[in-house]
Amino acid sequence: MPAVVVIGGQWGDEGKGRIVDLIARKAQIIARYSAGHNAGHTVVNDLGKFALHLVPAGIFSEMICVIGNGVVVDPAELIHEIEMLEARGVNTQRLFVSDRAQVVMPWHPIIDAADEELRGAHAVGTTGKGVGPAFIDKVARMGLRLSDLADAASFAERLRFVLGYKNRVLTQLYNRAPLDFDDTFARYREHWARLEPYVTDTSHICQEAIGRGDRIVLEGAQGSLLDLDMGTYDYVTSSVPSSTAAGAALGVGISPLDVSRVVGIYKAYQTRVGNGPMPSELRGAEGDRLRECGQEYGTTTGRPRRCGWFDAVAGRYSIELNGCSSIALTRLDVLDTFETIRICVAYEIGGRRVERFPSSHAAIAAAQPVWEDLPGWLSQTTGCRRFEDLPAAAMSYVRRIESLLGAPADIVGVGPERNEAIIVSPIL
Ligand code: GDP
Ligand code: IMO
Ligand code: MG
Repeated sequence: MPAVVVIGGQWGDEGKGRIVDLIARKAQIIARYSAGHNAGHTVVNDLGKFALHLVPAGIFSEMICVIGNGVVVDPAELIHEIEMLEARGVNTQRLFVSDRAQVVMPWHPIIDAADEELRGAHAVGTTGKGVGPAFIDKVARMGLRLSDLADAASFAERLRFVLGYKNRVLTQLYNRAPLDFDDTFARYREHWARLEPYVTDTSHICQEAIGRGDRIVLEGAQGSLLDLDMGTYDYVTSSVPSSTAAGAALGVGISPLDVSRVVGIYKAYQTRVGNGPMPSELRGAEGDRLRECGQEYGTTTGRPRRCGWFDAVAGRYSIELNGCSSIALTRLDVLDTFETIRICVAYEIGGRRVERFPSSHAAIAAAQPVWEDLPGWLSQTTGCRRFEDLPAAAMSYVRRIESLLGAPADIVGVGPERNEAIIVSPIL
């Protein structure tokens, strides 16, 4: 079992960080393979509560942690995260960052905000971290990689070219002030001096580990429904490689043949941050109640998350897209006080029942949920540690989701802390 990929099956924030923290001790390497610090992975363990944006959630288990070539790295954010972890007693000496990782530069968050403004009513609702523009530059061959910061002379030459180009975009397209070369150069050289000990060829580390038969967990960011190709385009994120399982091998520089298993993380209901269609969304008081029960506020931006009932149409789609052989179902406890719990089992679009997730934005936006109602269990599940400990109605709810998705639940989350989970079948 060389590499296991952990992906988000919905629109992000499914509890990926929490599940990786739970299983990390059984692996030798935990690696992030996509996205940037738009991700926010919460971990609650014996050291406290942590919000990680770039560092993999395996960092608490003293395993080797890798930020792969597929991640875009904001050096200031990474330094901040390392310092926060060290200050709280977490050793970061086993953290390695790919020298091929693209760098988030000062113009990226400016362009992110300015572009959202230009889009007006069509704004994506991005996290504003500059991650989208950093990936756009990567694809446009206008990016800088961490290895480009190493040598002062060649960094200066590359920065002069890219900054000259970007300043024209900032001033002429977005009507923003130009950025200063000397200041940017000095700041990023300082970042480099601080990060240099962590930067290396991480694909070599991963490939060697696979050669030894070590186990690698590839920690996904975001969710499959935010994928550029397969998500609810154009309300998606711009990560290349994809945050789906298909991007995992590329994002750490190993062969896809070394991935043996994909586990999908699903929340027991549905959330989304930012704009874009969400067929099972609950508006008004019902949605507010779910948000308050789950304290559904973004880990990265603090924005209220849009809430709704579990969407089994979208869920089945992401199971198939990723090839998930099993799932972890998190946050079952958030539903403890609901008298009736609904599942969206199909959509009605233009008077027709639809059971496959549509590709067209217009169709998803027009989709009306077809509900199946299940009785709530009206008792606390957080203390449950075996599946049989769950109230009968909670067991039925989990079983119904498994059957709709066509994948068994290996883990059921009943609280945010590391041990507040039912391990039905160990992932590793
Ligand atoms: P990620 O981005 O997928 O890692 O998820 P986030 O950390 O953004 O959001 C998930 C939230 O759910 C975090 O606040 C977690 O602490 C919390 N969480 C994860 N699993 C559970 C669970 O089983 N029960 C409860 N109550 N909270 C959970
Ligand atoms: P984790 O890893 C939830 C969403 C944003 C926005 C869209 C594009 O914590 O699950 P971007 O800043 O990426 O250009 O914004 O994608 N988004 C996420 N939503 N969880 C995330 O990550 C997200 N990363 C991006 O809200 O709708
Ligand atoms: Mg998150």
